[in-house]
Amino acid sequence: MMIDTHCHLGKEDYDNIEEVIKNMENNIMIVSTASPSDIKEVIDLCEKYDNIYGTIGIHPEFANTYTKEDLETLKKYLKHPKIVGLGEVGLDYHYTKDNKQKQQELFILQIELANIYHKPLVIHSRDALEDTYNILEKYKNKDLKGVMHCYSGDASYAKKIINLNMYLGIGGVLTFKNEKKLKEVVNSLSTKYFVLETDSPYLTPEPFRGKKNEPVNIKYVAKKIAEIKQEDIGKIFEITTNNAKRLFDLVL
Ligand code: NI
Repeated sequence: MMIDTHCHLGKEDYDNIEEVIKNMENNIMIVSTASPSDIKEVIDLCEKYDNIYGTIGIHPEFANTYTKEDLETLKKYLKHPKIVGLGEVGLDYHYTKDNKQKQQELFILQIELANIYHKPLVIHSRDALEDTYNILEKYKNKDLKGVMHCYSGDASYAKKIINLNMYLGIGGVLTFKNEKKLKEVVNSLSTKYFVLETDSPYLTPEPFRGKKNEPVNIKYVAKKIAEIKQEDIGKIFEITTNNAKRLFDLVL
């Protein structure tokens, strides 16, 4: 079984979403909100399809614009049985550095919600790894789990991150020809710290780079990990699937 631990299946993303979902028959998808206005759409997908779960949160891109109502909606649906995590949340200094304070406040507020609701965190961190680490270390409960979605730091930082009870989300970037840092991360850390993700419709792996991504392409990420670690791909699926089950408390 394959689990895509992080994808977006917005209506505007695909012409034929039914087909994209059908391609993942007998596998699992965990759909994340990209914007607070997606929360209801994620809930609808979770309720319609047995093999879809969701994570909801307020992305740092919305630190200046989210409303009180968005927060209320988030809290309400965090209790939904198929919402298995809080995210994606975090810090994005690539997009803008002008509102660091606001981004950090929103991140801290949602870490506290994750502590209260016992939901693992799905973290987006772009050009902000050090602040992300420091805030997590300070505000998360000791037993709170999470994943660094689309991990983009180096191997030594990865070791610090996993000590915070965090998994590393490994996606299509690993298959890119010129990507060295992530290959080094995969090479130097045990598979027991990895979960697979596509971040569909973005970050399409080779050999389809340039086209629209979809969850079934998760197999190319697994294949690349297997190649780097010189392991059987079945073993990579087995370990990462168990990691994902543990991380999101999935009872399948
Ligand atoms: Ni994403």
